[in-house]
Amino acid sequence: MGCGSGRIGELALEAGSSHYVGIDFSEPMIELARARLQRFHDRTQLILGDFLACPLEGEFDVVLALGLFDYLPDPRPFTKRIFELTAPRGCLVGSFPAWSPLKGPIRKIRYEVIGDCPIFNYSRRGLEALMRDSGFARIDIRAPGKSGFLLLAHKR
Ligand SMILES: C[S@@+](CC[C@H](N)C(=O)[O-])C[C@H]1O[C@@H](n2cnc3c(N)ncnc32)[C@H](O)[C@@H]1O
Repeated sequence: MGCGSGRIGELALEAGSSHYVGIDFSEPMIELARARLQRFHDRTQLILGDFLACPLEGEFDVVLALGLFDYLPDPRPFTKRIFELTAPRGCLVGSFPAWSPLKGPIRKIRYEVIGDCPIFNYSRRGLEALMRDSGFARIDIRAPGKSGFLLLAHKR
């Protein structure tokens, strides 16, 4: 979800994904993804639309949501829909920014003041609650750097 230019999809397809569905509501992004993933066209479906509103047929073994939650004022409907679309033995892989005393103010100025684009941060505890409320059972949260979390959430 929020596949952007398809750079993550490309890695998934190169690694052997049998089928990849990318969804993004930005037409220029979907066009970039189309060009990038052209060589995988027989295993790829790209959808222009809003993840919350667009008809999507699951179930998906893995839902990738990388670089997306930064921009969502209310992530709950997204994580709930992801849960519904995830296969019983499937999982969500997501990235979530955290407030950092060093990078936090710089990001705020860059995105919100200069770019007029609100951004949102997450805490480990808030993330755990978000995932459990959405139905996920096993949640693994890592903090590889200081600027955010990488999450793996299993449906059961
Ligand atoms: C920072 S980009 C990340 C792209 C990609 N996942 C990556 O890591 O390269 C976030 C993308 O999410 C898309 N997006 C945000 N909200 C969305 C929504 N509700 N439905 C579909 N796409 C959305 C934006 O258009 C943008 O392309």
